[in-house]
Amino acid sequence: MHKRYRWAVIGTGTIARKFLSDLSRIPEAEVYAVCSRSLSRAREFGEDYGATAFYDDVLAMAEDQNVDIVYVATPHTEHFGNAITCMENGKAVLVEKPMAVNGGQARKMMECARRNNVFLMEAMWSRLFPAFRTLVKWVAMGRMGQIRNISADFGFLNTHGPEERLLNPVLGGGATLDVGPYVIWAAASLVGLPAKVQAMGRLGETGVDEHTIINLQHSMGVTSQLMCGIDGKTPQQLIITGTEGWIWVPDFWHADTLIYQPRGESDEEVLSFPYEGLGYQFQINEVMDCVSKGFTESPRVPLSMSVSIMEVMDEVRRQIGVRYAMD
Ligand SMILES: NC(=O)c1ccc[n+]([C@@H]2O[C@H](COP(=O)([O-])OP(=O)(O)OC[C@H]3O[C@@H](n4cnc5c(N)ncnc54)[C@H](OP(=O)(O)O)[C@@H]3O)[C@@H](O)[C@H]2O)c1
Repeated sequence: MHKRYRWAVIGTGTIARKFLSDLSRIPEAEVYAVCSRSLSRAREFGEDYGATAFYDDVLAMAEDQNVDIVYVATPHTEHFGNAITCMENGKAVLVEKPMAVNGGQARKMMECARRNNVFLMEAMWSRLFPAFRTLVKWVAMGRMGQIRNISADFGFLNTHGPEERLLNPVLGGGATLDVGPYVIWAAASLVGLPAKVQAMGRLGETGVDEHTIINLQHSMGVTSQLMCGIDGKTPQQLIITGTEGWIWVPDFWHADTLIYQPRGESDEEVLSFPYEGLGYQFQINEVMDCVSKGFTESPRVPLSMSVSIMEVMDEVRRQIGVRYAMD
């Protein structure tokens, strides 16, 4: 068993709150510090979770010798600067998805982690659920035969205004960066990175995509049809079709069930993987396990994959015409 890790979080928004509700239930993890743009907000937010150190400056927090691991929970456009400051000061970092705004930033973050010999992982929590890990094993061992096609969708209805991060181009708004990582990570984790990318999207009044369709071609002619959207809720499911059957994964981004329909007349097989809380414990434990082993990245959420997926999203955005100031 490893030591008790002291975590710090940057950002006091929606995901920080959900993440800390799971983190605060893990005995090996301590919610130690909160960093906000406002010191009073850091204190008010952090005290709910037992934090004892509060900052309104990322550098000062990164220099705190008591901090072991930093969780970056700010808008996409802040990920690069926040993570670099923490890594340059020797901190392990878990950075929210998407890892950055573009592939160039993500690559510099990977290089910074390696140069400083510190741990860095994109918070692709979906990859770490027991159900999804089982699915990855099944595909690798050929349980569904040869995989032919993957389809995945992640659409929800945004109710926030144009100045909020989901629609605001200054904060990296748009469906591709917000929910694109889930569908692309799902496909790439199962059948590898694509050689070919085709995208079509609907851009809204703020100039960012409100939904986008992404078709990928992987090796051996395997295809993926992916959809990400912030303008309407979709079933949020993943379907993998192979020569020996197909698998349906409802709510694939926080999966607790795999439904396998073998080829022919056999009955479907339903496997359940129940979990407690919201499900962030799997990525929290992955980070602490990797750090305790001296790893600088997770074998399941490797940095090269995060960088390549950012590059796929660069290409998607190039095709649909979405650009940000930092591109
Ligand atoms: N893994 C998941 O399930 C999941 C779910 C939702 C979102 N996310 C990711 O988490 C990140 C944050 O999303 P969120 O929904 O939590 O966003 P949010 O509710 O807007 O919170 C972001 C927080 O970042 C801080 N911040 C720092 N600079 C900011 C700026 N320039 N503008 C606005 N806020 C700023 C703010 O805290 P202070 O005011 O205290 O500084 C704010 O509360 C995004 O990258 C998103 O993709 C992940």
